Amino acid sequence: MSFDPQIPSWGKSFLAKNLDNLTTYHNWLKNTGVKTGLISPKNDQFIWDEFIVHSLYFYKIILDLNISYNNIYDLGTGGGIPGLPVGIVSNENINLIDIKQKRIYELERFISSEKLNNINALKADAQKYIQQEVNSIFLMRCYLPKNDLMKKLEKHMSNNQSNTFIVSSNSNIEGLYKEAFHVKQEKFLINNDEYRFIDVITVK
Ligand SMILES: C[S@@+](CC[C@H](N)C(=O)[O-])C[C@H]1O[C@@H](n2cnc3c(N)ncnc32)[C@H](O)[C@@H]1O
Repeated sequence: MSFDPQIPSWGKSFLAKNLDNLTTYHNWLKNTGVKTGLISPKNDQFIWDEFIVHSLYFYKIILDLNISYNNIYDLGTGGGIPGLPVGIVSNENINLIDIKQKRIYELERFISSEKLNNINALKADAQKYIQQEVNSIFLMRCYLPKNDLMKKLEKHMSNNQSNTFIVSSNSNIEGLYKEAFHVKQEKFLINNDEYRFIDVITVK
């Protein structure tokens, strides 16, 4: 193994039973993922820390929220980030959504070969879900800038009142839209010394 499959203390339990499956996903990302353009070439440690460990923090947030919901959607999933690692370490039903059919075919092949029956890949426009779904959790990593997301949510406030958006972020929480949304920012380590941010956004 040419990388350290580490995880900071917040995620030790996620690795305990799932290291083999997460390593298989890592291997798939670095081979098929790069070959088919799901991710750009990266070193093994980067793929582990930035794609897998980062994804697992989304699941930690879901657990900590302790809310009831109908569905979990990963919008603009690309190579299954963050939804695939979340589905691997949990029994949650996860819907991976991407607008590109080719990405969905690759994800379907992986899901089927690994028998990940709780994970579904769907070719669709993410907008449809933001407009129509209720009582759902939406995961988004590097899909839409936060301000663009909030503009979209503002157009569909009534259904989004029951939804929760868990979105990769940077360290700045903009003052915009403060009246309409509640934004809670989580800062977490992805390894020994690098921090990342995820915002949990709900309609007030
Ligand atoms: C920058 S990539 C991020 C992929 C992944 N979430 C990650 O963190 O690596 C954005 C993804 O969003 C998808 N996408 C763009 N517009 C979309 C839309 N309207 N609906 C669904 N997916 C979309 C793209 O095909 C691409 O896979």
